[in-house]
Amino acid sequence: MKIAVLPGDGIGPEIVAQAVKVLQALDIGLEMEHAPIGGAGYEAAGDPLPDSTLALAKASDAVLLGAVGDWKYDKLERHLRPERGLLRIRKELNLFANLRPALLYPELASASTLKPEVVSGLDIMIVRELTGDIYFGQPRGISTLENGEREGVNTMRYSESEIRRIGLVAFDIAMKRNKKVCSVDKANVLEATELWRQVMIELSKDYPEVELSHMYVDNAAMQLIRAPKQFDVMVTGNIFGDILSDEASMLTGSIGMLPSASLDANNKGMYEPSHGSAPDIAGKDVANPLATILSAAMMLRYTFNDEANAVRIEEAVKKALAQGYRTADIWTEGTNKVGCAAMGDAVVAAL
Ligand code: IPM
Ligand code: MG
Repeated sequence: MKIAVLPGDGIGPEIVAQAVKVLQALDIGLEMEHAPIGGAGYEAAGDPLPDSTLALAKASDAVLLGAVGDWKYDKLERHLRPERGLLRIRKELNLFANLRPALLYPELASASTLKPEVVSGLDIMIVRELTGDIYFGQPRGISTLENGEREGVNTMRYSESEIRRIGLVAFDIAMKRNKKVCSVDKANVLEATELWRQVMIELSKDYPEVELSHMYVDNAAMQLIRAPKQFDVMVTGNIFGDILSDEASMLTGSIGMLPSASLDANNKGMYEPSHGSAPDIAGKDVANPLATILSAAMMLRYTFNDEANAVRIEEAVKKALAQGYRTADIWTEGTNKVGCAAMGDAVVAAL
């Protein structure tokens, strides 16, 4: 079982180090090899996704990724920016299914900015399409019009097959949960998502036990704050999923708690926290490593089919929280504030 470890930028290296520590503590013979991506890839090889990094990722069974991006790269040409490395590796590995579970640990009910009674018991699985939509649609670019003013263009597109394969993932996951799928679109305005809705309805005929509902994305954004527990599985396109998953993360106390899995058709996957590289706190040992550690648990579950060890990691995270350990983002009065490495140690000790 070989894992490509791509720490990336900002807090990436420190949070990934904690997840690596936890995986090593399991002692289940995982082989891990590190490589640069994002700004680190640009520094090492002039490319946010160096060829050697992509080759390693392709040759591995799974990828563990930290985060990419730093303001200092914002002035680079677009194709050299860290985010492009991330988007390219998702596309190259065909990781079309992004699973972002928003789960509230009971210990963190008071860390959320929402009232405890609104969020306690929360357990949502956001299924985000990851290799299509306006993120990749052509044409795109910034050009100068005949009248001399500039115009920016991006294109939202979804083919039927792209919608169908992500829909299937969502319905299959719902079958293992509470059998409810809410498909999020903007079918009242955008044709690409009108097709999305049609395909979801077609698919639902093969899943008579699953209750399919539809919601416009603006309403979904509102409902997530108003009454988030109404959701079980949410399935949506790339850009809506990007936005709604950040929103959902705050229901769980902190974006530092939200892991993710990005899977291809054969469950090969890339595992990364849903949050970004947070360059403002990088290197200060204050970042929350739990989203990355929980992403490692998802890796064991989805790619290595090792439910027992996935649960072991998740239970260890719960135990560390129950023992009162908190990084700054989830700290509340009366708990024990620790740094990134100490939080990693607490999870290892709990294992
Ligand atoms: C995410 C991030 C990325 C995205 C960025 C860093 C390109 O926000 O994984 O949600 O937009 O997909
Ligand atoms: Mg995002």
